[in-house]
Amino acid sequence: MMRIDILTIFPKMFSAVLDESIIKRAKAKKKVDIRVHDLRDFTKDKYKKVDDRPFGGGPGMVLMAQPIFDAVKKIRGRRKVHVILTCAGGHAFTQKKARQLSGYKNLLIICGHYEGVDERVRQALADESISIGDYVLTGGELPAMVLIDAVVRLIPGVLGKEESLKDESFENDLLEYPQYTRPAEFEGMKVPEILLSGNHAQIGAWRHKKALARTKKERPDLQSKGKK
Ligand SMILES: C[S@@+](CC[C@H](N)C(=O)[O-])C[C@H]1O[C@@H](n2cnc3c(N)ncnc32)[C@H](O)[C@@H]1O
Repeated sequence: MMRIDILTIFPKMFSAVLDESIIKRAKAKKKVDIRVHDLRDFTKDKYKKVDDRPFGGGPGMVLMAQPIFDAVKKIRGRRKVHVILTCAGGHAFTQKKARQLSGYKNLLIICGHYEGVDERVRQALADESISIGDYVLTGGELPAMVLIDAVVRLIPGVLGKEESLKDESFENDLLEYPQYTRPAEFEGMKVPEILLSGNHAQIGAWRHKKALARTKKERPDLQSKGKK
C-alpha cells in the first residue's frame, strides 16, 4: 500500500477532498494510506509559532526550518520517503510526473504558507519542488490535494476498470476525444451517428481522429512534443 504524509498548518482543509470519491474508495480498498500532520505539533516555540520574519527584510512571514526538519525526521522514521515541497517556482506538475510519483511507496508533501518556506528546506530536505501552475496560491494545501488526486487514481486497482485510464487526456500526448451520453438528441444537437453504430473499429478510428483534432486546436504544444 502506498503511504502519503502531508505536513501543513491547516490540517482541517484536507478532509473535504480526501474523504470523498475515488480517494475515499482508494483508502477503503487499502491502496493508499494518507496521513495529515499539523506542523504546529513539531515546533519548539512555546507559543506554537512556526513562522518568522525574513532575513534581509521584506513583507510577510516565512515558515521556519526547525519544525519542518523535525517533522520530516519523525514522520520518516526508518522508511525511505520521497519528499516534495509545494512551491510556485517549482517544476511544473504534469501527468507524466503524476505517473512517476505513483510508483513511490512513500511520499511526504510539505505545504508552504505565507511568503513561503526557509530555503534550507529545499536545499537539504526536499527531493524535489513542484508547482501546479504559473500562479500564486495562498498555501501548498490545494497543490498537495491536486497532486494526491492525480497520483492516487493512477495506482493500479484504484479505478474501476484499468481501461478508463487508457485514452485519458495527456496519455500519448493527446487530449481525450469528445464524450456523449443519453439522450441521442438534446436541444437539436445530435450525437455523431458513428457512436450509435456499434462498429467498434470505426468508433476507435473516429475517436482517434477527434483526439488529434482537439489536441491540434487546444494544445498544439503537446503534439510538437510528441514529434521530438
Ligand atoms: C503565497 S505562496 C508563496 C509565494 C512566494 N512568495 C513566491 O513568490 O513564489 C505560499 C505557499 O503556497 C504554495 N504555492 C503557492 N502557489 C503554488 C503553486 N502554483 N504550486 C505549488 N505550490 C504553490 C507554496 O507552498 C508556497 O510556499
